Amino acid sequence: MNQIDCYAVVGNPIAHSKSPQIHRLFAEQTNQELVYEAIRIDAEKTPFNYAVRQLMAKGYKGLNVTVPFKLDAFDFADELTARAQTAQAVNTLVFHDDGKVLGDNTDGIGLVNDIELNGKRLFKNQRVLILGAGGAVQGILQPLLEKQPICVHIANRTAAKAEELAQRFAGDISITASGWEEVPLKPGYDIIINGTSASLENKVPPIQEDCLKLDSLVYDMMYGAEPTVFMAWAKQHQPDCTVMDGLGMLVGQAAEAFNLWRGVRPETASIIQQIRDSISA
Ligand code: ATR
Repeated sequence: MNQIDCYAVVGNPIAHSKSPQIHRLFAEQTNQELVYEAIRIDAEKTPFNYAVRQLMAKGYKGLNVTVPFKLDAFDFADELTARAQTAQAVNTLVFHDDGKVLGDNTDGIGLVNDIELNGKRLFKNQRVLILGAGGAVQGILQPLLEKQPICVHIANRTAAKAEELAQRFAGDISITASGWEEVPLKPGYDIIINGTSASLENKVPPIQEDCLKLDSLVYDMMYGAEPTVFMAWAKQHQPDCTVMDGLGMLVGQAAEAFNLWRGVRPETASIIQQIRDSISA
């Protein structure tokens, strides 16, 4: 009898992870037989590498990796995809039969696909404003730049971190950086992405509302049962703009991981809706 393939998301804390529910729905949709769990790693008792080697020894086929282990996973992998290398963080591990471990980062493509496929807004020829310069933003820049926006401006509370990222990702696309006060405003931004963790504290990055346009798409990488404070701020100042939260990014990164493991990419829109319904219930 064949053993069922096992996968898991590892992190700490992990109890509220939506990943098991998302992957169960993917498996149903694509008729795949697999088990997917959430496993908390207490790194003080069991170091990340040791915990992952134990799961590999048990026959697990792959892992999703979340806070605070994305850098540990980056170091752990034997091989890295190009997007994991540029993100310098890994959220998906694939355990090959020969014992080699591939590390990938599907966060950026999850965001890009959510905006392009579900938000129906292509990045090509768009003016993009990104708020924040931490790990989350570092992970999305390369896949976003590949979609050829006209320009990207990164604004951050600590301007030096934004400038460092702009320098690192400099290339064909114009990429600039500043603190909040110095964000160039005219003629407004087509796509504005909040990649700070400010929404967790119910705070809005103090940017001027003039960066909003009538048809801006405003995206918060955070999500919750209610629209985030950042989405509410955008709607208050520009009622016609489109707002999206980061639930689609979460489902999108999971879909890419699922594809990497199973060779089939699930359709995400219906799954996003099901998860949203369960969050608001
Ligand atoms: P993550 O992995 O979620 O990106 P991180 O690397 O700690 O976490 O980065 C958090 C980001 O949110 C940073 O850009 C941070 O700004 P600083 O670089 O100045 O620290 C930003 N951030 C956190 N709290 C914020 C707040 N209350 N207002 C504005 N920006 C905030």
